[in-house]
Amino acid sequence: MAKISLKVNGHLRVVDTDPDVPLLYVLRNDLGLNGPRFGCGLSQCGACTVIINKKTVRSCMMPVSAVHNQIITTLEGLGSVAHPHPLQKAFVEEQAAQCGFCMNGIVMTAKVLLDANPHPSESEIKQALDDVLCRCGSHLRVVRAIQRAAKEMA
Ligand code: FES
Ligand code: FES
Repeated sequence: MAKISLKVNGHLRVVDTDPDVPLLYVLRNDLGLNGPRFGCGLSQCGACTVIINKKTVRSCMMPVSAVHNQIITTLEGLGSVAHPHPLQKAFVEEQAAQCGFCMNGIVMTAKVLLDANPHPSESEIKQALDDVLCRCGSHLRVVRAIQRAAKEMA
């Protein structure tokens, strides 16, 4: 066991845990942050995505010790029901989700995209989301939601 410090959504959190345990398990089980989801556990689907250093990270394969003292943003850090991030608002307005399981990975990936490129083309959006899997086929509504958020944030 080891004491690991994480700066999550603006708060310092210290956990006493197996250093090899995946970050995803710590976020969900120790810190009660259920935005990131367990999909494949193999870094293949994107459901577990969080943001670290302005980049998307698949937390299911990331040992928690590898992100000691790092600044981590989860879906909960983007906005709240009362004060949603423009992306979260746009996804609701476009009714982009079907089952919703993939939405954490899609929204977090879109956040990194819009931070780096506030006016992405449709093909840039599709390219950014290329390896985030959605088995419900919500892709067209997802693209519309990201375009709507980009307009609102302009
Ligand atoms: S659960 Fe992490 S990529 Fe699928
Ligand atoms: S909305 Fe169901 S997997 Fe994407």
